[in-house]
Amino acid sequence: MVTDTKTLYLELLKKTLSDYLNVDNPYANGVPPQFWWKKNGFKNQRNKWLVKLLRRSKIIVLRDDGLSAKERQEKREKGLDWPLMQAQTMIGIKRLNNIHELLEDLIDRGIEGDVIETGVWRGGASIFMRAVLKANVITDKKVWVCDSFEGLPLPEPDKYPADKGDAHHTFNFCAISKETVAANFEKYGLLDDQVCFVKGYFEDTLAHIPAEKFCLLRLDGDMYSSTIVALEELYPKLSSGGYIIIDDFNLGPCAEAVNDYRKTNDITAPITDVDGSGAYWRKD
Ligand SMILES: C[S@@+](CC[C@H](N)C(=O)[O-])C[C@H]1O[C@@H](n2cnc3c(N)ncnc32)[C@H](O)[C@@H]1O
Repeated sequence: MVTDTKTLYLELLKKTLSDYLNVDNPYANGVPPQFWWKKNGFKNQRNKWLVKLLRRSKIIVLRDDGLSAKERQEKREKGLDWPLMQAQTMIGIKRLNNIHELLEDLIDRGIEGDVIETGVWRGGASIFMRAVLKANVITDKKVWVCDSFEGLPLPEPDKYPADKGDAHHTFNFCAISKETVAANFEKYGLLDDQVCFVKGYFEDTLAHIPAEKFCLLRLDGDMYSSTIVALEELYPKLSSGGYIIIDDFNLGPCAEAVNDYRKTNDITAPITDVDGSGAYWRKD
């Protein structure tokens, strides 16, 4: 049985950041109606009007994902849903566990350098990184929080053919302002001078981050372009013995960027799967 307060704090944080505690609550929103209406082609007319009425009344919005609490729980564990209404992170418990394990291991082995996430959405995974550092009283590592804070970029198929037709830039719910993300850090009491925000598209910003070394890179930019730029700019600064996490290794364009980069740079370190989406390797 876990009794130490550090572990108890971090375990609870995973559940709150990912909104895991609300999966069995039918009144906690899964996907906001304007999203699933489009997705489902306005099939469910009865619920459409019910939800519209409830939304207008500003009382409540029912879930309408057709899933049992257990199915929702499994999806949230693996971060396979869009927890748009309340979560601070869309990654699930398993990928938060992965951050936890790797960061504790890096701290134990004294690997030099800061931690960085490229693609933060509402900030939850980065907030968790800051929490792990704080819970271990680590004061010499910063958390770099990198995002456009305006959503994903347009695909540039001439430059990155793998991104042709990519629709991520149309997902308005990915555009979360820097102020909102900072406020989320503040809510958890984790906004301080060890947290550094880097605003802008990766190709304009990552090369200029004033950090000499990283112990942990966490890439979560979904697209080929966002992944390859982060690899090119940040991997050379990853300390030997450090880890790189790829959140979207299940997405074709992202995996292609990773495979291209590894091939070009003769990287043969084995890749470990986390939950069927995320994956990581340790730099030799
Ligand atoms: C899937 S979300 C990240 C999820 C987040 N890590 C979490 O814990 O929930 C992708 C994020 O990457 C950002 N992003 C993707 N490509 C980008 C780029 N080229 N430059 C800046 N931000 C980018 C988007 O704005 C979005 O916030």
